[in-house]
Amino acid sequence: MADLTVWAPAKINLHLEVLGLRRDGFHELAMVMQSIDLLDTLQLSPTADGGITLSCDNPALPVDGDNLIVKAAALLRSRAGLPELGARIHLQKRIPVGAGLAGGSSDGAAALVGLNTVWGLGFAPEDLLEMAATLGSDMPFCLAGGTQLCFGRGEVLEPQRDGGSADLAVLLLKHPDASVSTPWAYRLCREQRQHTYLHTEVDFARRRDALRQSPLLHALGPGGRAGLALPPLRNDLQQVVEPEVASVRAGLELLRQANGPLAVAMSGSGPSVFALFGQLDQALAAQAALAGGIEAGGFVSWACRLRPRGVSLEG
Ligand code: C5P
Repeated sequence: MADLTVWAPAKINLHLEVLGLRRDGFHELAMVMQSIDLLDTLQLSPTADGGITLSCDNPALPVDGDNLIVKAAALLRSRAGLPELGARIHLQKRIPVGAGLAGGSSDGAAALVGLNTVWGLGFAPEDLLEMAATLGSDMPFCLAGGTQLCFGRGEVLEPQRDGGSADLAVLLLKHPDASVSTPWAYRLCREQRQHTYLHTEVDFARRRDALRQSPLLHALGPGGRAGLALPPLRNDLQQVVEPEVASVRAGLELLRQANGPLAVAMSGSGPSVFALFGQLDQALAAQAALAGGIEAGGFVSWACRLRPRGVSLEG
């Protein structure tokens, strides 16, 4: 069994609409999720000693059973019914933690794909999707990634093929001391916005259809190209998190001063914020032009392209 390197990309939300509450206590969502070229790397070395050990270049990250990589490995092994399977896994962390960029979910998705390969298990993509959904709402998207509509609690996927978003790029900002708990953001949303929630499947279905037909998808789809004006991006969690988190407000304000962004928004439950540009050199130019403000605000910044796929094996 040979070693394997797997790439785990971050995602941003180009649309996050809270439709209502579900019977399982989660929120019913309508989202457009987009992979970006900000990547963690997993190096997998299979063993036959039944041990799963994780190491990480970021000492702040838990490497025990709380880590989604370890959970994913344990679930895959138990579904295979082969307790003797083991692995040493090293994670090189580049995606900021607790940022609303699904870094942990993408790492878990990369572990599912990579270990399925190095352990020679042969699970089909549908099997991996089902396992991913039991581990986290964002994890199914992270498997195939690219541009996808995500419904349900995030796990009901409609991939958008041949999107025109390939040239688009993003400038991301995150304050290293800021972190937002996803359950907290959804709780706040429920407290403040529950009066706007829809209650019937018919109403949910109508909103899903509206998103499928939305100007945003037209702009991202075939024929819609960079430079075409994007509509303002909607993130219902931004409505409740922005007033509470100073670095989100400051980051959005800074990005709005950039030259020519197509749109500016918070990703997921935050606190990372991003500006979309028609091309990578525009994102890099904005990063250079805003360097003073980025430093003064204490932000870390990344400029990268959107990515047409999710988890991928090296080579
Ligand atoms: O599934 P995941 O572990 O990412 O969800 C984290 C938390 O975010 C959930 O426990 C829940 O509080 C909230 N959540 C939600 N509705 C969703 C997704 C997440 O309320 N669709």
